Amino acid sequence: MDMEKEKIRRKVKSIKSLPTLPAVAMKVSKMAENDKTSANQLGKIISTDQAISGRLLRLVNSSFYGFPGRISSISSAIVLLGFDVVKSLIISVSVFEMMEKGIIGLWEHSLGCAIASRIIAKRIKDCDPEELSVAGLLHDIGKIVVSIQLTENYEDIKKLIKEKKIIFYEAEKEVLKFTHEDIGGWLAESWNLPVSLQEPVLCHHQPTKAQSAKLQTSVVHLANFLVRSVGFGSGGDPWVPKLNRKAWDLLGLSFQDLEEIIRELGDELESVEANTLCESAD
Ligand SMILES: [Fe+2]
Ligand SMILES: [Fe+2]
Repeated sequence: MDMEKEKIRRKVKSIKSLPTLPAVAMKVSKMAENDKTSANQLGKIISTDQAISGRLLRLVNSSFYGFPGRISSISSAIVLLGFDVVKSLIISVSVFEMMEKGIIGLWEHSLGCAIASRIIAKRIKDCDPEELSVAGLLHDIGKIVVSIQLTENYEDIKKLIKEKKIIFYEAEKEVLKFTHEDIGGWLAESWNLPVSLQEPVLCHHQPTKAQSAKLQTSVVHLANFLVRSVGFGSGGDPWVPKLNRKAWDLLGLSFQDLEEIIRELGDELESVEANTLCESAD
């Protein structure tokens, strides 16, 4: 591990009370790694936590997914979406409350990014749209830590965003010397998420740094750009981040694809109404 990474790790670790996963998510993490675990067994464990399983079912049955009202049990959600996706959704619903306490609009931004990532991934070979949608959902998870645990620095970051008209990420670099990417990447690693989910979280602002999940990282990078461009939710600053040319080229999309993606995104965001968002949260 290089010195820089070690330094950031120590800094992030020194932040008091990083979001810890609920006990059920920890158990699910362990069980999902075992090939012999069945969807039924995993479903039973998740169902022991009523609050989490309730939120999870509401999310998968909301218009966020294409099968509203059709998934009646956690084990059928697992069969439909896979272990990793369900595990990551549990993380997402667990941290949702924290999200709203931190940056207003971050949940909507994250949900928008999840939807955009899924739409883009459907057009990219070797990308799993459901996995990409959770990568989009989790990509800014580090911002929760910055806004809730590093409150003094967060005030400085907000000031800098206004004064210098820079994006959140740039302001973090000046104030903290590390960013929500580093924090999110570290969290994703400590929660044992697959690399295909870790790298989009760790590198979504600098997609060329991704090593083994270049495509997935570029998808989330483009999704983040599009959701900010259409102004859905908030990432904590009023600016649209730059689109990385190499990431765009790597995806191999045409401008016609882009037009269709934007149209589809607009339709889907419209159907994710405010009440759906609230319902999936309580
Ligand atoms: Fe970000
Ligand atoms: Fe973002």
